[in-house]
Amino acid sequence: MTEQEEIEYHESLITMLEMIWGEGFLSPGGAEEVALLLAGEDIKDKKIIDIGCGIGGIDVLLARDYGAGSVVGVDIEQPVLDHSIARAKNEGLSDRITYQLVKPGPLPFEPASFDVVFSKDAMIHIPDKESLFDDVYRILKPGGLFVASDWMRRDENPPSPEMMHYIKMEGLSYGMGSPERYEKSLAKAGFVDIKLRDRNAWYSVISGEEYQQMKGDLYPQMEAKLGREYADRSVEIWRSMNVVLESGELRPGHLRAIKPDRY
Ligand SMILES: C[S@@+](CC[C@H](N)C(=O)[O-])C[C@H]1O[C@@H](n2cnc3c(N)ncnc32)[C@H](O)[C@@H]1O
Repeated sequence: MTEQEEIEYHESLITMLEMIWGEGFLSPGGAEEVALLLAGEDIKDKKIIDIGCGIGGIDVLLARDYGAGSVVGVDIEQPVLDHSIARAKNEGLSDRITYQLVKPGPLPFEPASFDVVFSKDAMIHIPDKESLFDDVYRILKPGGLFVASDWMRRDENPPSPEMMHYIKMEGLSYGMGSPERYEKSLAKAGFVDIKLRDRNAWYSVISGEEYQQMKGDLYPQMEAKLGREYADRSVEIWRSMNVVLESGELRPGHLRAIKPDRY
């Protein structure tokens, strides 16, 4: 599936993911993982776009804790953006954090609009990595920074039955690529100083702990909030995710690259 027609990040999924990953996050690691992603980068006063911003917890960090000049969060789903808009307002940051609903495909921004293109665990939903990174390059200013985390797959071979099962359980539109494909697509777009950081070992441990919690202490709370069927399905998602993390086929990782400054 290349283009989704329905809301995928519905309220039950948002509730479930926030129970595991923390308020405002639809991806693992919270503020610490964002800190690792941004280690050594200075984003103070910079103009940032967050592609696939979800429910906006990270945008608050970028503006409040890292001093970003402005953050534009874009997403293809309005319900997550409604959460984000409310969060920025509650934090008193609506002047520096704004949100925009976009369609999949080229982003509706002029060339060289941003100092930083940020994305956390959202590009998995965009199958055409080559067009994606051409577009990321286009909207970045010369000298601009691309920094992202994403769910990647070990290689471009057909997914294993275990991976197929995991993707089916998630029920989300995934278009995964290998780290090598990301790297090649970034280089082809014109990026330099490309760096990748594998996060499989880190998240394998965490997700194992999350699975134990979901089966144990967290289960009654999940069942009460989401119903037994949804709670059981969520536990099965984590079980099947652990299988492909442990086999090394699912490879969460970080990406960083620079658009050369030609001037
Ligand atoms: C796993 S969530 C991550 C949200 C947020 N970055 C975080 O880490 O909490 C992925 C988000 O990407 C959004 N998304 C999916 N396809 C997209 C696209 N083509 N452009 C922008 N956002 C997209 C989804 O709607 C969802 O909100």
